[in-house]
Amino acid sequence: MRNRKLQPSVAFEAAENAGSNPTTAPTMGDLIAERLSRRDLIQGLAAVSVAAELAWPRALAAAPAESKARDAASSFGFAELTVSPGSPTHHVAEGYEAHVLIRWGDPVLPDAPPFVPNRADAAAQARQFGYNNDFVGFLPLDGRDDHGLLVVNHEYTNGELMFSGLATRGDRDANFASLTREMVDTEMMAHGGAVIEVRRENGRWHVVPASNYARRITAETEMVLSGPAAGHDRMKTSDDPTGTRVRGMLNNCAGGLTPWDTWLTCEENINGYFWNKAAAEPLTAEARALRRYGAPAEWYAWGRFHDRFDVTKEPNEPNRFGWVVEIDPFDPTSTPIKRTALGRFKHEGAGNIVNRDSRFVVYQGDDEAFDYVYRFVTDGKVDPTNKDANRNLLDNGVLSVARFHADGTGEWLPLVHGRPNKDGQVWLTEANGFQDQGDVLIHTRLAADLLGPTKMDRPEDIDVNPTTGKVYLALTGNLKRTEERMDAANPRAANAFGHIIEIAPDGSDHAADTFTWDILIKCGSPQIAEVGATFNPATSDNGWFGMPDNFAVDADGRLWVTTDGNSPRKTNRADGVWSIETEGPERGTSRCFFQVPVGAEMCGPCFTPDLETFFVAVQHPGETEIGGDVISTFDSPTTRWPDFENGTPPRPAIVAITRKGGGKIGG
Ligand code: FEO
Ligand code: CA
Ligand code: CA
Repeated sequence: MRNRKLQPSVAFEAAENAGSNPTTAPTMGDLIAERLSRRDLIQGLAAVSVAAELAWPRALAAAPAESKARDAASSFGFAELTVSPGSPTHHVAEGYEAHVLIRWGDPVLPDAPPFVPNRADAAAQARQFGYNNDFVGFLPLDGRDDHGLLVVNHEYTNGELMFSGLATRGDRDANFASLTREMVDTEMMAHGGAVIEVRRENGRWHVVPASNYARRITAETEMVLSGPAAGHDRMKTSDDPTGTRVRGMLNNCAGGLTPWDTWLTCEENINGYFWNKAAAEPLTAEARALRRYGAPAEWYAWGRFHDRFDVTKEPNEPNRFGWVVEIDPFDPTSTPIKRTALGRFKHEGAGNIVNRDSRFVVYQGDDEAFDYVYRFVTDGKVDPTNKDANRNLLDNGVLSVARFHADGTGEWLPLVHGRPNKDGQVWLTEANGFQDQGDVLIHTRLAADLLGPTKMDRPEDIDVNPTTGKVYLALTGNLKRTEERMDAANPRAANAFGHIIEIAPDGSDHAADTFTWDILIKCGSPQIAEVGATFNPATSDNGWFGMPDNFAVDADGRLWVTTDGNSPRKTNRADGVWSIETEGPERGTSRCFFQVPVGAEMCGPCFTPDLETFFVAVQHPGETEIGGDVISTFDSPTTRWPDFENGTPPRPAIVAITRKGGGKIGG
């Protein structure tokens, strides 16, 4: 990390904003960002001061819901929530109920012990619900809408909120020194994912205890590598001389489900787990490649106790992370598979669709400032009648990276070793550092750099609306974007609030080489002209938002967005869920539906097929920093959501939202 004071929780956002893509000097961007940041405070982009932000837990009560009649042209019929700048608890639109389904530390496996605050116990954590739930997917059992499996990613951990005494305002090294081996191992067991069986009875969802499906995936779970990079020399370590077996998955952010009922879970900021920056000097080719991935970043202390996270001892271990992992949640004994054909980068999600020619298409964002948008198209076709026939579909196909042209068209540039581009040039060659397709995939970012794709403002989720065939891309923002480096697809300097791009594949063919695109919304406050937001004027003061992150497209083809980065200081509102109109005269109108407690971001939006339940993931409640200093700790958190008991820290949790009296979410 660039700032040694930063803790992992704070470091993620800063690192994603920093970018590792070689760029021109960011001096102007820094100035613009600084100006924007000052303006936030001075002009009242946020209505509260830093002092007020510190006082949230005392000052704020439940926000009242605002009654608003359904507009005739609107797809959504709910009464919009009046936004809260941030409060100790969550809020949902009037007429809806939001119940906590499962929290960090709750039992998952049949013999899991109950949660005990401030207890580092790796063996217990390996059987309990993990930390910082992100992606959520619902898989019906027996075709039911009220009974199924939930698959959940556990992206990262906030040590300062999990354990007492890890005050993190000051020196990170001192903090790391106080982390015990048991704390580190507990962090490792709190990463990964979970499979839980859930059922709705008498209107309320609950976790089915002692389910045969229950599973925890951790940073130590045995996995295999498959596809073109499996067995590659760059994958081999002393623990795995075959280059085909890996322990664990890390920083699993968003994801996707496949039509053959598997879970695609995506490794994002894997650089933060690796140690020994000293190894980066002098720069070897390997070290240069690691640097393009921001590794080693030393956000976690795992390298103190586990040699495989020290790049001087296991230089290839980082290459074994940063992949899309496919898991069969219906078989708790199945081995997770890292599908290397989909490339290695900071994967956000895996939005997907079966193309009209039956090939499977996965859209992917690489969440870093100035990084890229990718698409993977399988060689084979989805067999809708035989799920097992699709088991290895993701091992063969073409990965491409996107170039957005100023005229609203775009093209996909294939990342195939030795293949000439449309001008007859061959870039991915041994002379350029790529001996084979395995190299292209392990060093996807470096391969893509050679093809000239568009450097984006942090690509987060990219999801397909199967009703319209259009594809939605969340760019969460990029303060380093300078005026000199603006382009049509990233049209704001110091892009603090992000935007959403809509992509239409040419001929409605998701495997086509070309597409057209448009900006659906530039985010931020429409009331401040300088921000340049473009919400439909029908959007109320509650309806606008910044920092789009994840999407859900519901069974009616309506788009919902969740956010990561709103706060009293930035947008005078907490993160949450907003609905967005994408068609007709209301296009670009959004409404607030749900808000998270203070310090949290909103993840995992996921509907049951009948649209009667909306599962959302409240990630890192109470994670609060001001000016690079963490001001919320286990001992003094900004919220104790959802338990609100002294001595119990905030706990990331899944929330099930239903409509009072039943019925479709969103009207
Ligand atoms: Fe883990 Fe890009 O959010
Ligand atoms: Ca995300
Ligand atoms: Ca996020």
